[in-house]
Amino acid sequence: MKTTDKEFFRIINYINKKYGISLIGKRALVEKRLDNVLTKTQCSSTDEFMDLIEKEEYELLDNILISEMLTNHTFFMRESSHFDILNQIILPKLKKCINQQEGIRIWSAATSSGQEAYTINMILQDYFGEEAKAWTMKVVGTDISQTMLDKAIAGDYTKEEMETVPDKWKSKYFIRKINGDYKINDYVKANIVFKKQNLIEPIFFDKNFHVIFLRNVLIYFDIGIVNKIVDKVADFLEEGGYLFIGLTEILDINSTKLKYIQPSVYRKL
Ligand SMILES: C[S@@+](CC[C@H](N)C(=O)[O-])C[C@H]1O[C@@H](n2cnc3c(N)ncnc32)[C@H](O)[C@@H]1O
Repeated sequence: MKTTDKEFFRIINYINKKYGISLIGKRALVEKRLDNVLTKTQCSSTDEFMDLIEKEEYELLDNILISEMLTNHTFFMRESSHFDILNQIILPKLKKCINQQEGIRIWSAATSSGQEAYTINMILQDYFGEEAKAWTMKVVGTDISQTMLDKAIAGDYTKEEMETVPDKWKSKYFIRKINGDYKINDYVKANIVFKKQNLIEPIFFDKNFHVIFLRNVLIYFDIGIVNKIVDKVADFLEEGGYLFIGLTEILDINSTKLKYIQPSVYRKL
C-alpha cells in the first residue's frame, strides 16, 4: 500500500506518541505491513483506519495495528549467552543469599510470544531440579501486544518454533501434539504470569526483580526514550540485580543508574 506523506506521518506519529517506537526510516516496511492492517480491519484507506482509531480509541484496532507494525520476532534460547550467565553466575549467587520463601523474581519485559519467559523458567527448573518445588519462583512476561500475549498464554508452538529447544527440554517441559507441534506443560506455566505493559507508561509491581530481561526492544525507541525506559525499569531491580539488553543494543551508561558489566549486561550496585 503506497502512502502519501500525510498518511505516512499520520500513522507513524500515532505509533510514536502511543508506544515510543520510531518508524521514520522504515516507510517501505510500514507500507507493506499496512496492507495487512487494512485487510484485517476491512478499511479501504489509511485515513479511514486512522479516523476510526483516533476517534474511538478502539482497543481491537490498536491491537491489530501494533501486532502488525511492531517487530515481534523471538525464539527459544535467543542470545543464549545470557542464559549461561543466569545459570552459572546469577542463580548460584541468589541461591546463597536468598531464602526459599522470599524466592526469585525475574521479569521478561517485551516478552513477545513468551519464548523468552519460558526459557528463563526452564533454566530455573533445571538449575533447582528436585528443590524447585520448595522455592518461590516468579517469572513475569509483559508486552504491549495482546496478540503476542495471547500466544504466550496459550503456550502453543509449532515444530519450526521449537527448533532451538534442546531435545531434553522438549520431553521434560512440553507436550507433543499429534501433528508434531508442541504445548508447554502446566508445570512450566505454573509460576509465569503474562500481562500487558506499555514500557513508556507508568509501571507498577509490588516487588522488585532480581533479574530483568529487556532485550531487542530498545533498538526501536529514540535515544531519549531509551534512557527514560531504562531508568524506570532499573527502579524495579533489586540492589545487585542484573539487567540484560539485546546483544546488539547499547546503553548510554552515564545517564543510567546501572553499572556496566560486559556488553549487554548491567547491574544495579
Ligand atoms: C523483537 S521482540 C523481542 C522479544 C524478546 N525480548 C527477544 O529478545 O526475543 C520486541 C517486542 O517488544 C514489544 N514492544 C514494542 N514496543 C513496546 C512498548 N512500548 N512497550 C512494551 N512492549 C513493546 C513488541 O510488541 C515486541 O513483542
